[in-house]
Formats: sequence, structure tokens, C-alpha cells
Amino acid sequence: MKALVLAGGAGTRLRPLTHTSAKQLVPVANKPILFYALEQLRDAGITDVGIIVGDTRAEIEAAVGDGAGLGIRPTYLHQPAPLGLAHAVLTAADFLGDDDFVMFLGDNLVEGGVADMVERFRRERPAAQLLLKKVSDPRRFGVVELSPSGEVVRLVEKPADPPSDLALVGVYLFSSRIVDAARRIAPSARGELEITDAIQRLVDDGAVVRASLLEGWWLDTGKKDELLDANRIALASLERRVDGAVDDASELVGAVVVEAGARIVRSTVRGPAVIGADCLVVDSFVGPFTSIGARTRLEATEIDFSVVLEDCVVRGVSRMEGSLLGRNVELTRTHRRPAAHRFLLGDHSQVEIEEGR
Ligand code: DAU
Repeated sequence: MKALVLAGGAGTRLRPLTHTSAKQLVPVANKPILFYALEQLRDAGITDVGIIVGDTRAEIEAAVGDGAGLGIRPTYLHQPAPLGLAHAVLTAADFLGDDDFVMFLGDNLVEGGVADMVERFRRERPAAQLLLKKVSDPRRFGVVELSPSGEVVRLVEKPADPPSDLALVGVYLFSSRIVDAARRIAPSARGELEITDAIQRLVDDGAVVRASLLEGWWLDTGKKDELLDANRIALASLERRVDGAVDDASELVGAVVVEAGARIVRSTVRGPAVIGADCLVVDSFVGPFTSIGARTRLEATEIDFSVVLEDCVVRGVSRMEGSLLGRNVELTRTHRRPAAHRFLLGDHSQVEIEEGR
């Protein structure tokens, strides 16, 4: 069994983070979203992984490399334009050959891994096995209609009038029949070859298409609140590990990871929280559900429920919560006169200043 991981798509700048144009590389608990998918595939025993890359291929290839660190063997497959998920399957046709495969959307984060799904697929050998999740706004997703006995009857992509509240999660298991089905569909109204249409072909051909409900969480991570939420959930299963240095005047409470080269001085870190490699945390408090990226310095600062990326400096800020800082951000307190807030903010920045300050 192989895997096809989709990390293509147009290289539009991600708001509010602008350091990467590949949304699959946005970090959650200090790890790119894409790596969770690759590790879950490896844990299911699938190491032969085709990775669809597009405009951002250089960034993706730099991050994944030869896959040794992740325990997989990647084959990069270039898709010249993001012409749809079924187009990505056709792009990978030679790589896939006649093999069964897991298709995993590289910007999806799914709890619990894929080993059980793969096991079920191997046992039952349907043409396709889908993963569904009940959502409050199905119009943002591919939606599946099931018969009363649970058979897949119909699939629609981002319907204005959804036939159910069951969204397609971005993990699919396919036999090679999907490649032939993808060859027999036409582009949708948005100009893409939709995987939902290809699967509908299989259903119409009378092939066995199964679906199961995802019990755990599933995250889409485009916006600040979703990213903070993804970070919170990913940190909830963190296990304590201290590879950096913690002085006697500091206290680590609960599930805290301190990466190698990081130093915690006269500070309290209350988990779950990750302090990245080579960080410096001095006279500060880091509270639950916070990820601090590598080489960031926190001084005389209190922060919780936040994500701070690499190479930031935060000094004298108390107290900061529910915040997301991109790379190389500086946030410092000053005694300069006139007493005022001074900002240098990029496009689409958002700042909330406490009343009375
Ligand atoms: O997240 C689940 C949803 O993903 C499903 O419910 C939908 O049925 C499915 O169509 C898909 O919808 P999105 O509109 O969210 O897909 P998006 O364009 O964001 O692409 C998903 C991933 O696949 C993303 O990492 C980019 C990559 N991609 C996308 C396209 C269209 C490619 O590699 N090549 C492509 O041509």
C-alpha cells in the first residue's frame, strides 16, 4: 500500500502568518501540520509516500527532505497547477500503478492516526473508504449523503444546500479504480477535477464505497482561532520531556517540553506547553496551551494560550493571551518619551490594547 499526500495548491500568502506560503507547513505545537500526516502514515506501516507539490515545492522539499527524519520515503510529484484533488490523483498515476493507497490532504490534522482505517481497508478491500465528520457548516466541505443502511449514495462538493451534515475529512482510502474514475470526469463549476465527482463515479458504477465516522477531532487550520485551537488540542496529548536547561529558581508544572539548547531562568512554565530549541525564558510565566518557537526570547513576560513562532523577542509584556506571533516579531516595553505605543505592523495585523493603558 502506498500513500499520496497533497501538499500542492497555489502559493498564496497565508494570513496572518506570512513566513510560509505553504499552508501545510504552518506549525502546530511547533511541528508543521504536514509532518503529522506523514508520521501517521509511517505509524500505519506506509512508507512509500508520493507528495504532490505545486508552487511551493521548494519549501515543502526543504522541510521534508529525504524523509529519513520522518521514517518515510518520499517521491515528489509536481502538479503544474492546482486543478483539483482528482487531478492530483491523475498526476500521480504512474507512481500509484495498480496499488491501493491512502490519500491524505496535507493541511488536514486528524486525531488518532490512520492505522485502524488502513487495517479495515485491507480486510474489506472496497473500491473506496471515506472518513466523515459531523460539522456545523457543511457548505465549506465535500458532503456525503448516506442511505438509511449507511451506504454512500451521493457526494457533493461545497453544496449551497447540503443534503447532510456529514463532511468529508481529508483522508481517503482507494483501490486503483479511482484513477480510472478520475479519467472519466469533467471539471466542476470552479474549474477543478473534484475527487467527490470521481468517487460518485465509483458509486454509479456499482463499486463498493464505504464510509465511517471519525470519532476524534479534525482540524482545518486557516485562521487564528483555528490555529490556536489546533495548537491547544495537539498540546493536550503532550508528554513531559526536558532536554534544555532549567535553573533551580524555575518551576515546570505538568506536561512541558523544553527542547535542547533552551534555557529557563527564574521562570514558571505551566503545561501543556512547548519551549522550542535554543529559546531563552527569563523572569517569565508561560501558561497552558502555549507553543514557543525555536530561538525566541521571553523576558519579564507572562503569556498563555498563545503561539509564538521562531526568533521572536518579547520583553516586559504582561499579560498576553490568545495571541499568535509570526516569525521575528519584537514586542518590548520601553521608557521612551513621549509615553506611547509604537507599532510596525504588516498587512492584516490585529492588535488589541487593554483599556486604560
Ligand atoms: O478539508 C477537507 C476538504 O478538502 C473536503 O471536505 C473537500 O471535499 C475537499 O475538496 C477538500 O476541500 P478544500 O477546498 O478544503 O481543498 P483545498 O483546495 O484546500 O485542498 C486540500 C489540500 O490539497 C491542500 O493541502 C492543497 C492540496 N491540493 C489542492 C488542490 C486543489 C493539491 O495538492 N492540488 C490541488 O489541485
